[in-house]
Amino acid sequence: MICFRSVKGHKMKKILVTGATGQIGSELTMALRDQFGADNVVAAGHSRQPLPNLQQSGPYCQLDVRDSSALRQLVEDYQIDTIFHLASLLSAVAEEKPQQAWDINMNGLLNVLETARLHDCAVFFPSSIGAFGAGTPAIDTPQDTIQRPSTLYGITKVAGELLCDYYHQRFGVDTRGLRYPGLISNIALPGGGTTDYAVDIFYQAVKNGHYDCFLGADTQLDMMYMPDAIDAAIQLMKTDGHKLHHRNAFNITAMSFTPRQLAAEIQKHLPGFTLAYRIDPVRQTIADSWPRHMDDSAARAEWGWQPRFNLSKMVGDMLDKIALKLSKG
Ligand code: SER
Repeated sequence: MICFRSVKGHKMKKILVTGATGQIGSELTMALRDQFGADNVVAAGHSRQPLPNLQQSGPYCQLDVRDSSALRQLVEDYQIDTIFHLASLLSAVAEEKPQQAWDINMNGLLNVLETARLHDCAVFFPSSIGAFGAGTPAIDTPQDTIQRPSTLYGITKVAGELLCDYYHQRFGVDTRGLRYPGLISNIALPGGGTTDYAVDIFYQAVKNGHYDCFLGADTQLDMMYMPDAIDAAIQLMKTDGHKLHHRNAFNITAMSFTPRQLAAEIQKHLPGFTLAYRIDPVRQTIADSWPRHMDDSAARAEWGWQPRFNLSKMVGDMLDKIALKLSKG
C-alpha cells in the first residue's frame, strides 16, 4: 500500500473506545486505562448497564455509532485524539440480520472516519479472518491476496479495510488495523460469532464436563488469546507510522487448531471431559470459507508482532480463570 499523504506524529492522549462493552472492548478499555490513565479513556457502548468495572473505573457513555452527531459531540466534549472503533455485529448474527449488520458495521465506521477527519483523530479498526472467502488460499493465507467473502460480515470487513485505506490516502487520517482470528477470552462472551465454540467449550467443560460443538471435529481455524489481541492493538497504534507499509488489515495469528485438538488439550487438565458434535450448517459453511492459517509475517516485520500465548498456555490459563469465575457464581 502506497501512502500518498504522511501522518503526523502519533498522540494517544485522549482515547474513545466504541463497542466498549463487547468481547474485545471490555478488556481493551481496562488495558488502555491502565496505560494511559483512567480519565483519558472514554468507554462508549450501546448498553445502559455495562459491566460495573467499566463504568466505575472511568468515563462511560451510551452511544449508538450510527448517530453521527452524538459521536461528534462525544469527541468534542472529551477532546478525543484516538478512536478504537470496535462496535460491530459478528458473523453469525450478521447472517441473521444482514441489513442491520450493514447499517451498524458500515455506517458506524463511516461516522467514525468522518469524525476522525474533522477532529484529527487516529483510528483503530479491527478486521477479521472473515474478510477472506473460499477463493482465498487457506493455508499460509498471504497478507495481500484474493478477498471475496460470502458473508455479510466479511463484506463489511473488506469494505471497512478499503474505507480505512481510503481515508488515509485521501484525507491523511491515521487509520490502522488488524485482521483478528477467532478470539478467546474469559471476561465478556463473544455473542454471535463463528469461532464462539472455542470460548463456550471452556464454560461447559468446567461446569458439565461435556460440550456439543457446532463446528465439525476437523474444522481448523486461526485463534488468539485475548491478552495478545489487546497487546497487538495497542502496539500497532503506538508504532511510528512511517514504519507501516500496510497500515490497515495486518494478518495476525497466534495458534491454529481444530475442535478435536482443542478438546484433547482440555482433556490433559480434565481427563473426563467429552466432546460431541452437533453441527450448525450456517456456521460450518462460514468456517469452511475462512483461512486455516494466515501468514502474519508482514505484522512481524513492520511493527514487531509476537504472540505470547500458544494453545497449551492459553488452555491452562482459560481453565484456571473460568473455574475461578464460576466458583464465585
Ligand atoms: N470471531 C469472529 C466471528 O466468528 C470472526 O472475526 O464472527
